[in-house]
Amino acid sequence: MQLLATNVCKKQDLGVHNNLFGGTMLSWIDEAAVAFVNEVCYSPNMVTLKMDEVFFRSPVKENNLIKIYGQVAKFGNSTIVINVEARKFNVYSHEEASVCTTRITFVRIDDDGAAIPIAKHVKDKYPDLQ
Ligand SMILES: CC(C)(COP(=O)(O)OP(=O)(O)OC[C@H]1O[C@@H](n2cnc3c(N)ncnc32)[C@H](O)[C@@H]1OP(=O)(O)O)[C@@H](O)C(=O)NCCC(=O)NCCS
Repeated sequence: MQLLATNVCKKQDLGVHNNLFGGTMLSWIDEAAVAFVNEVCYSPNMVTLKMDEVFFRSPVKENNLIKIYGQVAKFGNSTIVINVEARKFNVYSHEEASVCTTRITFVRIDDDGAAIPIAKHVKDKYPDLQ
């Protein structure tokens, strides 16, 4: 998987149990993921269509460093599906532990918001996913 973004869990990101608020994690993931698919698809016009199961595997605490990784899983006509994993990064040991996983579908849209095909030259870079 490719590193997409790194975030620091700040005090204002915590929920009632002093864990990172789940909605904030989803926001970090969505932002990192859309930037990734914009780059992969050579288009600034990609919208989030669907998030599959989101698994919050273990809690994130204040000051934890969270690295978000992504990998292209599949292409459709106008869609791209990516696997995303957020990992807690231990700055002392440099070990990483998975804290959240999901799979997201994005759609390429035109200026009117309608789905349009992802360019062929993009898909041609991923022959194993055809
Ligand atoms: C993205 C959007 C334009 C698609 O509209 P639509 O009417 O479903 O368009 P289409 O029927 O042409 O389908 C487009 C693609 O979505 C896929 N799709 C539609 N519903 C789906 C679903 N429930 N699960 C998986 N794929 C789905 C279709 O199979 C198609 O894939 P393909 O082109 O790779 O074959 C529309 O759903 C939308 O605007 N959604 C809101 C996006 C948004 O605001 N996101 C949050 C902020 S970024």
